Amino acid sequence: MLTNLNAQPVDKIMALMAQYREDPREGKIDLGVGVYKNAQGVTPVMRAVKAAEKVLWEIEGTKSYTGLAGDPAFGQALSGLVLGDSVASDRLACAAQPGGTGAIHQAVELIKMASPDATIWLSNPTWPNHPSIIKHLGMKMADYRYFDNDSRAVDFDGMMADLAGAKAGDVVLLHGCCHNPTGANLTLPQWKEVAALLEKTGATPMIDIAYQGFGDGLEEDAAGTRLIASSLPEVLIAASCSKNFGIYRERTGLLMAISDNAGQTGTTQQNLTHLNRQNFSFPPDHGARLVTMILEDEGLRADWMDELESVRKGMLGLREQLAGELQKQAGSDRFGFVAEHRGMFSRLGATPEQVERLRVEHGIYMVGDSRLNIAGLNAETVPVLAEAIVAVGI
Ligand code: LMR
Repeated sequence: MLTNLNAQPVDKIMALMAQYREDPREGKIDLGVGVYKNAQGVTPVMRAVKAAEKVLWEIEGTKSYTGLAGDPAFGQALSGLVLGDSVASDRLACAAQPGGTGAIHQAVELIKMASPDATIWLSNPTWPNHPSIIKHLGMKMADYRYFDNDSRAVDFDGMMADLAGAKAGDVVLLHGCCHNPTGANLTLPQWKEVAALLEKTGATPMIDIAYQGFGDGLEEDAAGTRLIASSLPEVLIAASCSKNFGIYRERTGLLMAISDNAGQTGTTQQNLTHLNRQNFSFPPDHGARLVTMILEDEGLRADWMDELESVRKGMLGLREQLAGELQKQAGSDRFGFVAEHRGMFSRLGATPEQVERLRVEHGIYMVGDSRLNIAGLNAETVPVLAEAIVAVGI
């Protein structure tokens, strides 16, 4: 039986991680996978997470099963962080998931059950695992224009023109903030226009929010998602705690489904629970419990917000330093977009050959579409990167 299996396409981000690990060169620079690193190149356990783990070790008296949708307190705490009071709680169904990827997978399964002929619209470009999961689940997809490679900004006119083709029953996948892979984001007035267009077409928005707090701040980064949640009848939201709580390997995420009216919410919730049962029964609990403890405790929450804010400001500082260094070394301000982009990533707009030269000649690793992870830099490596970018002619 197993001999019938064919080789699967390689995940580019995962392959790059392996390639970097195997590179023996000292001074190699990893700007690949979207993992936050401090100036020492370490992905630290956040202070509030450590503190919550200590308390949990003391008070946790059982590791028996939670609910199929996870602990309801987690759903309440994380949906509160993402949605604020933008939507009435009786319209909201949630189920804990193994990470943001788990939430996306489950959302696509839910779409398949509710609207099997749906086309799922994806920004061009998007996180490569989006189309991969959709294809795996046998759903149709289409691209909408998103990134203008010349200005390195959002091609908003192109986006709106393409999304006008979405139909009722279709789903439009949007990045809540910190667009991956480009770093180019919608403004709030643009979110409003998107919301109005979706309402007109009848397509359902699905929002992937994996970097809340990494862009302009926790509240600011949720503003687009909240606007959509408060203005459209049905919304799906996949939230991840991997990055903003730094708990990547704990696999902590939440799928939220907003129904048109409170009368529908019970059935929506029951379907989310059913899907969990079919796929893995109970979602992982450790990370979800830590997040709940942090969000519910005033002191832990304040400390977490404080540390997250310094992470965010550190990345902004690196962006400004890199833009400045590139201006100096290239003698032009064509790289000003690096300081305008938000979140972990920026797309440089380089050719695959230039990206390859950065790796081969300079030991600098970034994804082949020229996405760089700004958090992989520090004050010393910024000039090294700027010099290499200029040397390969980007
Ligand atoms: C990334 O885009 O690098 C991250 O979201 C990690 C991943 O799973 O791809």
